[in-house]
Amino acid sequence: MAPLRIALYNGKGGCGKTTLAWNLAMGLARRAPTLLVDADPQGSLRDWAHWADSADHYAITLCDWAGLCEGGQPEHRYRVYDCPPRPDGDEIQGILRQADIVLLPALPSPLDLWASRRAAELVQDMQGGGSGVRGYFILNQVEANSALSRASQSAIAAMGLPVLPVAIYRRAIYRSAALEGLSVYHMGKRAQAACEEIERLIEEILK
Ligand SMILES: Nc1ncnc2c1ncn2[C@@H]1O[C@H](COP(=O)(O)OP(=O)(O)O)[C@@H](O)[C@H]1O
Ligand SMILES: [Mg+2]
Repeated sequence: MAPLRIALYNGKGGCGKTTLAWNLAMGLARRAPTLLVDADPQGSLRDWAHWADSADHYAITLCDWAGLCEGGQPEHRYRVYDCPPRPDGDEIQGILRQADIVLLPALPSPLDLWASRRAAELVQDMQGGGSGVRGYFILNQVEANSALSRASQSAIAAMGLPVLPVAIYRRAIYRSAALEGLSVYHMGKRAQAACEEIERLIEEILK
């Protein structure tokens, strides 16, 4: 069976592609073998993640941007791509053509959303060209107690891609986990809320 392929993509840097790709892949790996493709040629994941620790406990394998894994590519059910922060290009198109689901992380501010416009257009072009890819915005670093502003709502509506009904909140634990090269699943009780929202994200994707 072909794996379910999920790409984290947005032309903008700093919106949460790597954070979400990493934690999402860790959550998926608790369910079935998962490949995490570090498609950013800067290879931040490889430098950063504690592969020895995490691979012992979870069925996760890291591949570089060309899809090469140490020891060959294992059988896997889920494949997660961390895309480079570029709106377009051959690599990006290659990944998006393969993907079943594209998630565009965006910060819930109108300016940030507008900056994601070209990325959203590329996904829509692919859909218009007959690709069955499902594309969604996922709001990241949402602040507790602050309703999404009306300007953000209309920016999203103008973008033409749906927003996933699961938002990821701004939580220090995402940064602390990253500093230690770990996912939120490794951080114990203080990461419970973060784990729960990543689990909700996974359930939404697997619907
Ligand atoms: N939900 C979140 N809560 C708190 N910090 C976050 C969250 N998502 C991302 N970050 C932090 O924001 C910064 C940018 O995230 P990153 O995943 O590297 O973005 P990208 O891969 O799109 O460039 C990192 O320092 C990361 O730890
Ligand atoms: Mg990144």
